[in-house]
Amino acid sequence: MSTTVIILAAGKGTRMRSLLPKVLQPLAGKPLLGHVIETAKQLQAQDIITIFGHGGALVKDAFSQENMRWVEQTEQLGTGHAVQMVLPVLATSGTSLILYGDVPLVSAHTLQRLLKASEKTGIGMITLQVADPTGYGRIVRHHDQIQAIVEHKDASTEQQCIQEINTGIYCVSNQKLHEWLPRLSNQNAQGEYYLTDIIEMAVADGLNVASIQPEMAFEVEGVNDRVQLSKLEREYQSQQALSLMRDGVTFADPDRFDLRGSLKVGRDVRIDTNVIIEGDCELGDGVEIGTGCVLKHTKIAAYTKVQPYSIFDHAVVGENNMIGPFARLRPGSVLANQVHIGNFVEVKNSLLAQGVKANHFTYLGDAIVGQHTNIGAGTITCNYDGVNKHKTHIGESAFIGSNSALVAPIHIGDGATVAAGSVVTRDVANNALAIGRAMQVEKSDYQRPQKSK
Ligand code: UD1
Ligand code: CA
Repeated sequence: MSTTVIILAAGKGTRMRSLLPKVLQPLAGKPLLGHVIETAKQLQAQDIITIFGHGGALVKDAFSQENMRWVEQTEQLGTGHAVQMVLPVLATSGTSLILYGDVPLVSAHTLQRLLKASEKTGIGMITLQVADPTGYGRIVRHHDQIQAIVEHKDASTEQQCIQEINTGIYCVSNQKLHEWLPRLSNQNAQGEYYLTDIIEMAVADGLNVASIQPEMAFEVEGVNDRVQLSKLEREYQSQQALSLMRDGVTFADPDRFDLRGSLKVGRDVRIDTNVIIEGDCELGDGVEIGTGCVLKHTKIAAYTKVQPYSIFDHAVVGENNMIGPFARLRPGSVLANQVHIGNFVEVKNSLLAQGVKANHFTYLGDAIVGQHTNIGAGTITCNYDGVNKHKTHIGESAFIGSNSALVAPIHIGDGATVAAGSVVTRDVANNALAIGRAMQVEKSDYQRPQKSK
């Protein structure tokens, strides 16, 4: 059976008080609507149709890579009116799942259960029991069978006591949508075309309306303001931390961890507090990440220890490295095994072979460093002449003295030594010593200036 996912996303989102359309507000670094599209893709939907209105161009642009369709609802005349806009492009066979761009966390598993439950009946919905149903559509049942959805503003005092509410998520046969939607009217308290009225139409046609409940209430919660957004962010993050713990990760505190992307882990990974992981990252067996680290699109191999407050961006780190504290690995940093990167060391677009050490205050940019080379404190690769970037090659087992400036393009040989404080502008041969500084001058019995009277 082919499934179409219809996503309602035309609402204004006034309560966000933002220039950004609501469905583009990020949750775990990804737009709300992006989460819904991701879930639709997991369901292998044949067709994803998003109904947009406010901020249309911006919303469409944000998802220009996705293979999906867009339908405009220029005036927001109600949820039923929104889905009416889809009818001209909606297949006449198959089933539609109706979702919302601002209900980001409904799981593919729950939707699969809904699809299954609705298979025989042709219509099904997700409902929820809540303590305070204020504002929601109420589920009216007779002998357990769903009869209708009554909106809060249209409900009698008796109906207002019903605690089973409409989440707004439905599964409906396309044929029925084509039949029912043109018949909606706006004769109700809000003067809107209510999508909820299709339930009564189904009942009138003699159909049983199937219903399921989500495993977790937050799955069906919508985002109207930033308070709700932050609540869902924490729910989402705690789910991710839970699943990582099940994969064998130890967190100092799972409530102080943020994953904005994906993380693959080996065994016995330990993550201290306030670590942020963005994009697609991987941590090998036994990797330890200290407090306050930020990793973006980074791979770290087994048993590497990262000390606090180190920042990684598109870096690849080998096994048994010691990184940080306060290290910064920028894009193109590739570190082999047993590399040591210490405090206030910045690496960019550089290859560091096995056993390289750069332990203090250093900038290595556009460099290739051979194995077991020691980079002294305060070494700078001067890779930029103001216009172009140039490469620094340093051989194996070289020793770069502290506070040296290596002016690229430059080649420093295997086993070469650079004296501390050198400005090196010419290549250094293998095993040579380069001293690129004024020689020390000594004046004996020197008299310091005296204070004049
Ligand atoms: C709707 C349901 C209500 C349910 C509640 C769950 C109807 C009539 N009522 O009420 O039973 O309990 O959701 O949250 O369906 N939208 C459009 N175009 C429109 C109107 C809405 O795209 O013309 C989109 C909004 O962007 C939003 C969603 O539909 O994402 C729901 O709209 P909203 O106005 O919040 O519906 P409710 O009145 O809360
Ligand atoms: Ca709502």
